[in-house]
Amino acid sequence: MAFETYAQVRPYARSIRENTLLRTMPPWFADPCCGHFSNNPSLSQAEIETLAAWADAHAPAGDPHDAPAPVRWIEGWNIEKPDVVLQMPVAKHIPASGDVPYQYIIIPTHFKEDRWVQMSEIRPSNRTVVHHAVAYIRDPESPWLRGAPVGVPFSANDLPDGKLRRDAIWTNSDILLVYAPGSQPDQWPEGFAKYIPAGSEVVLQMHYTTHGSATEDRTSVGLVFSKEPPRKRVLTLQLTNDRFVIPPGDPDKRVEVHGTLPNDALLLSFFPHMHLRGKSFEYNILEPHGRIRTLLRIPHYDFFWQLSYRLAAPIPLKAGTILQAIATFDNSRNNPHNPDPDSAVIWGEQTWAEMMVGFFDVAVDPGITKQQFFVRAPAQ
Ligand code: HEM
Repeated sequence: MAFETYAQVRPYARSIRENTLLRTMPPWFADPCCGHFSNNPSLSQAEIETLAAWADAHAPAGDPHDAPAPVRWIEGWNIEKPDVVLQMPVAKHIPASGDVPYQYIIIPTHFKEDRWVQMSEIRPSNRTVVHHAVAYIRDPESPWLRGAPVGVPFSANDLPDGKLRRDAIWTNSDILLVYAPGSQPDQWPEGFAKYIPAGSEVVLQMHYTTHGSATEDRTSVGLVFSKEPPRKRVLTLQLTNDRFVIPPGDPDKRVEVHGTLPNDALLLSFFPHMHLRGKSFEYNILEPHGRIRTLLRIPHYDFFWQLSYRLAAPIPLKAGTILQAIATFDNSRNNPHNPDPDSAVIWGEQTWAEMMVGFFDVAVDPGITKQQFFVRAPAQ
């Protein structure tokens, strides 16, 4: 539904009243206990009351002279007009039913110079079948998926040798951005950007889900370049635990992971990811003397709203900071989305298996690469 004109909004007046009073709309899942986020769309109490009073007064149109100018949308994109659009060279056919293994599509950028990307957006041509898309930056030195075909979708199972097949899902290439239903494009603050070295490829990892009719998709990635050389490079890192077992029926399985930052960094944003049994998620800093500083808490995780949470003010972190992510999962019958409460669940690509990934973005000096960022000094 579009909410651009009075005529479009009017039929929803009662529903708008209810959804805003219940705070189910606009969608936002961060506990107000912790952190301030620049993309928090929540309405103030006064705004909620204004909407309710308007609906109660039979949703009057108001004076047309007070109306704001119509919004001018850029055709197809939520970011500024992209400088470059990289599209899957061929469409991927999606069958009517069954699981589709993750598809990889290597798209050459043909960039002759290094590029800094300030905004980026992934747009599936067919949103109904795209569960998620991850765009990785494969720099010319990266050995990842060398020997795999370029420009055509393939899955790990299609690859000729065992090592290539195992390597498909594990890479230390930087992530350009992630798309999942409800997610917003990336728009880094002035002076911050993602780095794409000359000669890189963008590798799309596509998770397609079937829905009863055969169809196809040709996803695109739009890029807006920085006008000035950036002060900071943005890297996407992750706190991942892939070694859990969630017992059948367990209503509250806790899975934890923590890691130490090897260098100073500015913390920018978070993107928690679990599947259908995901119940809650939080990011903490483990401070000395057992103190815990919570940066983001999602008390009721909802798989159908994969949001990123962008800090209103970046948090400077010193080398040695311990970051922790804690997830809980509900594998009981009381979870209405649970595909099978009678099974133990482990990590897996498909939605009926589980994941525990706390993505987070940091800004570092422009010369630092993701590989360097992870290099740790030998223990003294
Ligand atoms: C003040 C802002 C917003 C208002 C007043 C609002 C209002 C509503 C209302 C009234 C409905 C229920 C429609 C019905 O009766 O069927 C709804 C559903 C929905 N809204 Fe919003 N919304 C807001 C913001 C957003 C935003 C920012 C997004 C996307 C990021 C969004 C996405 C959706 C979706 C996907 C549904 C369908 C949900 C479902 O079927 O489970 N809304 N919204």
